[in-house]
Amino acid sequence: MNTREAIMKRSSARSYTGEQLTDEQLEALIQAGLQAPTATNRQELHFTVVRAGDPLLGKIEEEKNRLRNASPQQNFYYDAPIVIMISAEKGFRWSTLDSGIAVENIALAAEELGLGNVIIGCIYDAMHGEKKAEFEKALRFPDGYEFEIAIAVGRKAAAKEPHTYDKDKQVTCL
Ligand SMILES: Cc1cc2nc3c(=O)[nH]c(=O)nc-3n(C[C@H](O)[C@H](O)[C@H](O)COP(=O)(O)O)c2cc1C
Repeated sequence: MNTREAIMKRSSARSYTGEQLTDEQLEALIQAGLQAPTATNRQELHFTVVRAGDPLLGKIEEEKNRLRNASPQQNFYYDAPIVIMISAEKGFRWSTLDSGIAVENIALAAEELGLGNVIIGCIYDAMHGEKKAEFEKALRFPDGYEFEIAIAVGRKAAAKEPHTYDKDKQVTCL
């Protein structure tokens, strides 16, 4: 699959089989994140891999639901076998943008590997709330780093079409 095919085929997967990722697949995903460009090549991103079933994911889920006053049917990572948390240097002007680029690199690498994935922003408030320090410590973010975005990856259980868009509304060619 070439890059353009991966871009055109990618869509968010929200159900996964129980299949684990191989070490090679995980390595390829992390490499895709590390190879992402960062402003001034600062490389201010950190990647924390968390496996499904880690009680920490349950604690983050609980905190998210407490803040949202909700009890959803599915957890935030849809029981995917791994979640990659991206943290970045607090206060650096481009941390959020660089994290977004890295997470899309991982999403496209996952697509190319034939793996489903979904980018996860819904835990942002939980990761920046009362339990911020506790979660940052447990996830072993480097000092001065904070949560930016996450991505869940695994073998998808159901196919989904890529989203559609309104080109006329979203594009201007001068
Ligand atoms: C920054 C960001 C945060 C997102 N957070 C979540 C999330 O927390 N949970 C979720 O199910 N999907 C999340 N998504 C996935 C979007 O809902 C999804 O990309 C969008 O609906 C378009 O669908 P597609 O990815 O299948 O093309 C997020 C996507 C982005 C880019």
